[in-house]
Amino acid sequence: MRDAQPGNIYLKDYEVPRFLIDKTELRVEIGDKDATVLANLTMRRNPASNYQGKSLSLHGVQLELQQLAVDGRALSKAEYEVNGEELLIHRVPDNFTLTSEVLIRPRENTSLEGLFKSRTMYCTQCEAQGFRKITYYLDRPDVMSEFTTTVVASKSECPVLLSNGNLHDWGALDDGRHWATWHDPFLKPAYLFALVAGDLSLVEDSFTTCSGRDVALKLYVEEKDIEKCGHAMDSLKNAMVWDEEVYGREYDLDLYMIVAVDDFNMGAMENKGLNIFNTSCVLAHPSTTTDDGFKRVEAVVAHEYFHNWSGNRVTCRDWFQLSLKEGFTVFRDSQFSADMGSATVKRVEDVNMLRTVQFAEDSGPTAHPVQPAYYMEISNFYTATIYEKGSEVVRMIHTLLGPELFRRGTDIYFERHDGQAVTIEDFVAAMADVSERDFTQFMNWYRQAGTPRLSVTSDYDPQQQQFSLHFSQSCPPTPECQEKQPYHIPVSVGLVTPSGDLPLDAKGNTTQVLEITQPEQTVVFEGITEAPVPSLLRGFSAPVKLSYPYTLDQLSFLMGHDSDGFNRWNAGQQLSIQLMQALVTDYREGTPLVLDQRLVEAFAKVLAETDTDKAMQALVLMLPSEYLLAELAEVIDVEAIHQVRRFMCRELGRELRDTWRATYLANSEKVFEMSGAAVAKRSLKNLSLRYLLNGASDDSLSLMHTQFMEADNMTDRLSALNGLVNDPREEARPLSEQALDKFYNDWQHEPLVLNQWFQTQAACVLPGGLERVKVLMEHPAFDFHNPNKVRSLIGVFCNSNLINFHDEAGEGYRFLADNVIALDKLNPQIASRQLTPLTKWRRYDLTRQALMREELARVLAEPGLSRDTYEIASKSL
Ligand code: ARG
Ligand code: ZN
Repeated sequence: MRDAQPGNIYLKDYEVPRFLIDKTELRVEIGDKDATVLANLTMRRNPASNYQGKSLSLHGVQLELQQLAVDGRALSKAEYEVNGEELLIHRVPDNFTLTSEVLIRPRENTSLEGLFKSRTMYCTQCEAQGFRKITYYLDRPDVMSEFTTTVVASKSECPVLLSNGNLHDWGALDDGRHWATWHDPFLKPAYLFALVAGDLSLVEDSFTTCSGRDVALKLYVEEKDIEKCGHAMDSLKNAMVWDEEVYGREYDLDLYMIVAVDDFNMGAMENKGLNIFNTSCVLAHPSTTTDDGFKRVEAVVAHEYFHNWSGNRVTCRDWFQLSLKEGFTVFRDSQFSADMGSATVKRVEDVNMLRTVQFAEDSGPTAHPVQPAYYMEISNFYTATIYEKGSEVVRMIHTLLGPELFRRGTDIYFERHDGQAVTIEDFVAAMADVSERDFTQFMNWYRQAGTPRLSVTSDYDPQQQQFSLHFSQSCPPTPECQEKQPYHIPVSVGLVTPSGDLPLDAKGNTTQVLEITQPEQTVVFEGITEAPVPSLLRGFSAPVKLSYPYTLDQLSFLMGHDSDGFNRWNAGQQLSIQLMQALVTDYREGTPLVLDQRLVEAFAKVLAETDTDKAMQALVLMLPSEYLLAELAEVIDVEAIHQVRRFMCRELGRELRDTWRATYLANSEKVFEMSGAAVAKRSLKNLSLRYLLNGASDDSLSLMHTQFMEADNMTDRLSALNGLVNDPREEARPLSEQALDKFYNDWQHEPLVLNQWFQTQAACVLPGGLERVKVLMEHPAFDFHNPNKVRSLIGVFCNSNLINFHDEAGEGYRFLADNVIALDKLNPQIASRQLTPLTKWRRYDLTRQALMREELARVLAEPGLSRDTYEIASKSL
């Protein structure tokens, strides 16, 4: 067992830094075996601190200290001590220069935090606390410094040397090495520091800002990926224009660089002027990347770009404020994606993700508020709650204020706090000031975990022509808080009748935002001449679980008549959910399953529409996922959920066979196009093909096979491969095997495509899933050190293959625990993240609960567990 168990760090214990670092000069020399880091820090006592002592405490992890000096005088061993992750210097003056030299080992750094080697390049990842693996420092976001960085490395091995800001000077040494000095004029915390050294190819473009400044845009990738940069570059330029137009934010340096690396713990990182990206979030080409992959690249490139203002120019005071930058920036990138494509499609995708992933997190043992009150390891808090729920909270502010006031609020926020490290309260204060609204109650969204329940009933009084909505809100207890205060919930509503939406005010508006603040609250609409069906929470105006006693007929009605596109989709989902839940009960009771014809009719109607956006049509025709049903279940019955969803797909496939075939054919194009309309067509086409397969139509195998063989793009190819691999018919096996082999042979030199090959097999629902995954773990293309590979195989199997991972024998749980234990020794951040599915054990039947707990306990008992994995395992048991 570890000797000292890590404890929680509390927001209430926040103290301003005792010392400041005005200037940071680094010289990083990268050698064959290791690297040395020479740091010169210009420091002074913080006038805002009431600390009176003389000692200075710095962060440092896995650093081999070579020398340490204050004002040029080397310190003796008696003048400092190293305790775990702290360097304590007993006596420092009020103003001084601290010089240190440390040795670090990037080649042995498998945590991918700090300075590490990925394939042919050296690069860094410092957020949240990786800088302390590079040098001794005050590694906290409220210490902001002016950085000058010199990188030294072999000229042949690392022709490209990069860091933040502008290139200031460079030269060659006579031993085959060369150097480059970068200077970043903007003050920044250490988590935004970056350095890259490697053999990289460059794609260049430029952008002229609204004030007429030219910015050089540079994308650094491996030579073989040079053809896959166009989409990221276009997305970057679109994001730059958009931020000028929508938020009035202009880029501030003369240079914007993006570097693509293959081994990366997350999607991407917004380091000032030098973003570092997971290759999966920047490279895109129709032959290797699906349409969803293209959208993801656009969103992540924009997200990191938007951080330049929401994150870098105005940063976080401490890590409890993480959502200040992440929630706001996710909101900004979602607005951007909505503007670039279809707003309703984007909203549906986001809400689907929120309802499955974030709602599940919010009801489990790791539930935490958007502004957490405590944490053990901050890396564990890069969660759907901080990001996606955080974004929903900002969206609610936007809904309450309206776009103009919201924009005035962000203007004031950026103006007041430019160059500062601030809090969520500062952000909300700017919004309160421009709107003269009271946000006291609204802050509960930031401070309470858990998903609020909003129950609504209605009654109609024809005599008085009154329609009343009765709201009742509550929120279940979560680990940090048992008793919840009521929330301030913006509920966007419309009243729908067969002849359309009723006007709700004198201006004829048909949507109104109600503000629900009480535990029980009634809202009365006057002058309502016929009984309407309420359309509630339009656009998903608040992240709550809404219930209203809709009949199936009312849901079908809303599906066809609601003027709100999101709610039309949502009505369809609720209709399917009601039917599926009833069938789950039938399945458990052994009652034969029968599909309600109303769903078939509703689907037929949607398929017959000719004027709807095809991407929307495809979304409406997609049944809620197994994981959404699981999230909604009292106790998750794995078999029942899986069998019921399969049954419905099969019946819908069979009953509407001819329509699916016609839709498939009508949306098949000879020539590939990347336009929004073409993407929409492909999604409807591939969905239709999947239903043909589900309905086991005779021609579906050959259609699928032909599409696989002839596809000229990855969306169609992968969709056909997925179909073949999941087709339960005997005659599909040889075709599926052949296709997998061919796919591998064709794409074995493309790591990103192989990720998709692993994902397809890891998600295969046919029996024997675990054995297939275990065989693939031994495949030469699998690499336990590469997070994308781990996520593609282990992650997808454990998070997206409900029926196989939760096989009753519990072998899936054992497999996951074994891998988490092994991963924890290499990469704690990835290990602790992979543990998530086991933390949900309380949601399953007693047999599975016991098996899952046992494996969690085994992980927790592992000696020398990282703080990351320890926190998740201990909090879940
Ligand atoms: N700030 C990065 C972003 O744009 C993500 C950093 C994630 N860090 C981590 N330790 N997981 O969202
Ligand atoms: Zn971010």
